[in-house]
Amino acid sequence: MSQRLRHLTTLEHLPRDTIERLLDRAETMRDGCAHGTRKLDLLAGRTILNLFFEPSTRTRTSFELAARRLGADVVNFDIGFSSTSKGEALFDTLHTLEAMHLDAIVVRHKVSGTPDELVRHAMSGVSVVNAGDGNRAHPTQGLLDALTIRQHRPDFAPLTVVICGDVKHSRVARSDVHALGGLGVKEIRLCAPRALMPEPSEFPQCILTDDFDAAVESADVVIMLRLQKERMAATDLPDEAAYFERYGLDKRRLERAARGALVMHPGPLNRGIEIASEVADGPQSRILEQVGNGVFVRMAVLAEVLGR
Ligand code: NCD
Repeated sequence: MSQRLRHLTTLEHLPRDTIERLLDRAETMRDGCAHGTRKLDLLAGRTILNLFFEPSTRTRTSFELAARRLGADVVNFDIGFSSTSKGEALFDTLHTLEAMHLDAIVVRHKVSGTPDELVRHAMSGVSVVNAGDGNRAHPTQGLLDALTIRQHRPDFAPLTVVICGDVKHSRVARSDVHALGGLGVKEIRLCAPRALMPEPSEFPQCILTDDFDAAVESADVVIMLRLQKERMAATDLPDEAAYFERYGLDKRRLERAARGALVMHPGPLNRGIEIASEVADGPQSRILEQVGNGVFVRMAVLAEVLGR
């Protein structure tokens, strides 16, 4: 049995049994909530800081709900697009907030690697959980995507998963690859237009293609990604209508996938750009289940890092 995690900054290189333990625990949390356990007191008396330097709806709200459902106190510190330079300002903020006796920091930052820097600088005893750093990692999203898939397809071994869209800028794609690769998915196809394709050397275990019609063929799971304009150079911005034509998921394209393929998207959705409403709201969509699972996965992660 692998060791308990003190921090969660990435899923890369996490042992499979650790990933499975977190998914199992998320399911226990879900069952506990479903059976009327209004609030667990696992984290009573602990204080969790949500430190968000980038906007967020789902992730911030669900971390907050997760912490409250476990009985913790929560402080929200939304900085939005702070113009303060990184470095000193970040650590000043950290030490100021730490002086208020925190147990965990949940951090989102546009600079990749910030959570690991916080791990190095945080006071001992303070756990750090990554809620998304640059294009590098979004580990709780990777876990909630894996959980959503597992609930419909319990055996990962025969699965083909396609992840399509702005892969280059996507921390979700990276954490999904780490989670699903770690869980033994048969094949992961990454599909993007050339300008939004990552370096192939970063994904030696995946198939990379710019042909979505071919990529979606017989796939069991289709994960669509948002065009992250805020991370793109102006020259990389695709024409939206042309993009939808080649990379949008509509009903006709979904028919190429395996029967009953799961349709997923981390949100926020750009309807009519990467996904048609008929699919996002259609019978194969698991998008709202992903959101619901987000709370249970974050409960599991907070319980793990703060467990005594
Ligand atoms: C994602 C993110 O912030 O990385 N959203 C999320 O956490 N649900 C994906 C995105 O912003 O496109």
